[in-house]
Amino acid sequence: MHPRRGRKGRRRRISRLVPHQATVAPAFCQCRVVGCGHDCASAAGKVSPDNVDAACRLKVRPEQEGVVAPVVRSLADAYAHGEAAWPRLIFDGDQLVGFVMGGFDPDSPVDAFRCGIWRLNIAAEQQGRGYGRFAVEAVCAEASHRGQRRVTVLWVPHVHGPADFYLRLGFRPTGERIQGQILGELALT
Ligand SMILES: CC(C)(COP(=O)(O)OP(=O)(O)OC[C@H]1O[C@@H](n2cnc3c(N)ncnc32)[C@H](O)[C@@H]1OP(=O)(O)O)[C@@H](O)C(=O)NCCC(=O)NCCS
Repeated sequence: MHPRRGRKGRRRRISRLVPHQATVAPAFCQCRVVGCGHDCASAAGKVSPDNVDAACRLKVRPEQEGVVAPVVRSLADAYAHGEAAWPRLIFDGDQLVGFVMGGFDPDSPVDAFRCGIWRLNIAAEQQGRGYGRFAVEAVCAEASHRGQRRVTVLWVPHVHGPADFYLRLGFRPTGERIQGQILGELALT
């Protein structure tokens, strides 16, 4: 069962960010994706000394831990890969709810690494509330901003993996696999 239908009370719907409207600031936005282009009231900060501890404490559900690297590993990758990495924290108000990292390496010889979602972790207790969609749309917005027209993602085929999430968001498998992971793509309009 998808967690949003679970027992954890009412579902909160956050605003949707259409990639090509990324610079338009919806007045109803309650959420901030650091650097996403929203003019949110609380838009601020990338990973910073103030929030890095909380970022490293962010955990997905135990059964999902095999399908995504922990945030601390992603931050190490971001450090190692420099400008190709686009790590961002996702907040709702002051609450940290997730982490996403885009990968933008347009000259990479590997198609899958040129423009895509590299990591995505929504906190276990915050899943099913639209934050994952919001995070993906933020990466898409950043890709559009960089002049890209296509976003890719690699996902682990696993019973607790994100395949249905990405399919729901419009990604389609290309038919290629890289190190056992499925390559999906989404054309930006
Ligand atoms: C996959 C993940 C990012 C989804 O985040 P989320 O915040 O729970 O997803 P959202 O609430 O934004 O859901 C967006 C849409 O996808 C659907 N969806 C999300 N997870 C789904 C699932 N497991 N199965 C079917 N549909 C799903 C939702 O129903 C929703 O559809 P709707 O808006 O049309 O109703 C989150 O579960 C997670 O962090 N998983 C563990 C780590 C992981 O797999 N990361 C991806 C690595 S590539």
